[in-house]
Amino acid sequence: MPYLTWNDELTVGVKKFDEEHQELVRFINQLHTGIIAGDAASKIYSVLEGLIDYTEIHFSHEEDLMIMKNYPDFEPHKKEHEILVKSVLEFKKKLDDGKESFSLELMSFLKDWLVKHINITDKKYSEFFRKNGIS
Ligand SMILES: [Fe+2]
Ligand SMILES: [Fe+2]
Repeated sequence: MPYLTWNDELTVGVKKFDEEHQELVRFINQLHTGIIAGDAASKIYSVLEGLIDYTEIHFSHEEDLMIMKNYPDFEPHKKEHEILVKSVLEFKKKLDDGKESFSLELMSFLKDWLVKHINITDKKYSEFFRKNGIS
């Protein structure tokens, strides 16, 4: 049973972004699996780096489409992306400094971090992109 299960309620209606969100879910599940299995920190760390890199790519894809289509809520959405990246980078910095370690608390933080953004902020663009012919 995966830690975070994709379900249709997480769909935002833009196929490319739904696929990217599913990839983010896979990263989170992979991190969780590594933590539960007691994998070496270096191995888990590389999954975290993959998650962060992929998140930045995904956010830039969303922002590019918002700019292209003149999405009215672009600025607050971009701001939220920045805050999300900052929060995960702060955690990574604490890991680097030995002030933090991989834990189930981290997992619940990341789970909320992703699911809330999709459910609350990303879903706001669904109707707009649909009206602009993007699916
Ligand atoms: Fe977003
Ligand atoms: Fe997103």
